[in-house]
Amino acid sequence: MKKHKITAFVKELNVRMKKEPITLRYIHILGTVIFFSSVSSLVILLALYLNQRLQTSLFLVDDLSSNPLTSPSLSLLPPPPPPPPRSSGNDVEEEEVMRRAAMAPRDAMMIGAHPKVAFMFLTRWNLPLSPLWELFFKGHEDFYSIHVHTSPEFTEEPPKSSVFYKKRIPSKAVEWGKSSMMDAERRLLSHALLETSNARFVLLSETCIPLFNFTTIYTYLTRSTRSFLGSFDDPRPMGRGRYTSKMLPHVSLSDWRKGNQWFEVSRRIAAEIVSDRRYYAVFKEHCRPPCYIDEHYLPTLVNKICPEMNSNRSVTWVDWSRGGSHPARFVWKDIRVEFLDGIRFGSNCSYEGDDVTNVCFLFARKFHVSTLEPLMKIAPYLYGI
Ligand SMILES: *[C@@H]1O[C@H](CO)[C@@H](O)[C@H](O)[C@H]1NC(C)=O
Ligand SMILES: *[C@@H]1O[C@H](CO)[C@@H](O)[C@H](O)[C@H]1NC(C)=O
Ligand SMILES: *[C@@H]1O[C@H](CO)[C@@H](O)[C@H](O)[C@H]1NC(C)=O
Repeated sequence: MKKHKITAFVKELNVRMKKEPITLRYIHILGTVIFFSSVSSLVILLALYLNQRLQTSLFLVDDLSSNPLTSPSLSLLPPPPPPPPRSSGNDVEEEEVMRRAAMAPRDAMMIGAHPKVAFMFLTRWNLPLSPLWELFFKGHEDFYSIHVHTSPEFTEEPPKSSVFYKKRIPSKAVEWGKSSMMDAERRLLSHALLETSNARFVLLSETCIPLFNFTTIYTYLTRSTRSFLGSFDDPRPMGRGRYTSKMLPHVSLSDWRKGNQWFEVSRRIAAEIVSDRRYYAVFKEHCRPPCYIDEHYLPTLVNKICPEMNSNRSVTWVDWSRGGSHPARFVWKDIRVEFLDGIRFGSNCSYEGDDVTNVCFLFARKFHVSTLEPLMKIAPYLYGI
């Protein structure tokens, strides 16, 4: 009986032993399948993540404002993303800065030092072309100040060695073509005005590049008695057509002007801008899309209060020639010496009265992040270094 049981057990064991390789093989196959599917899902997840990162970084390169100066069909554009509710700016503090800036001296104070140029960057996130700017600023520390307005959600700090380290001012959300954009520009101007050695104020975006070396740009700006704020009377619907008689009696149609958002102003005009409450209130109420406040408020304000102080042209070049609602954006393959020299020397304009010059533009936009590499290669030629 016992013997029989043992034999049966051994037989069963034998059968199992024979079966085992098959089971093992199954386990093996199953293990392989599980292994490969986890690897591939990991790869897919990684790809999704990288794709998102890439999209975000491409998104960064787009200008805050692409307000066309030429297209009437703006309202067809997709609406901008809703602004984040958070803000790093405190209203009371901001009012205080604005108040102090409005009272700041109207002429740059220079006690043995040089007047400075304030470079004000209005960006969404980081500055993708910052290596070019670092090169541009290098060695001119006493002649400039930097002020950066970003999305309040962007809190990344560049390395300590960067010229942009700790240059971010308390910022608030900015909406495309709305008065929050003007608020940001006023915020930048007030912060820059508090530095009393700042004599000239340039507004730049993250897609802007300098076309000349620091010395040339600095001299061009500080020697000019006039500001470089684009201001012209555009009789078309996208110019005068955006005016409303509801602005009367403060702003009449003959006061109405249009111009490139990316301005350069003297300290006197910068102070006028941050002190103005009357006209700003009128514009905030009556200049709403499809009236773009950043294209009309400053050109009209300067035309009203100090027209003789403006050259009425912008020193920031932008290409509207391709038509459409957005100016051309340049990529890697566009960067050639002939193209850049065309912008640098290809126009005629007046500088300081009757002097005609072929250097009309000091900055240009919109340059995609892919242009950084060729621009860095061309930089020794552009900047004479
Ligand atoms: C700019 O335009 C204003 C009128 O809007 C005019 O008074 C002023 O002289 C112009 N500036 C130049 C340099 O032409
Ligand atoms: C600029 O002026 C110069 C000399 O008057 C002329 O030769 C040139 O064609 C002008 N350039 C443009 C772009 O108008
Ligand atoms: C800046 O550029 C000018 C020509 O545009 C050149 O003469 C000058 O030497 C350059 N200055 C520096 C400091 O590189």
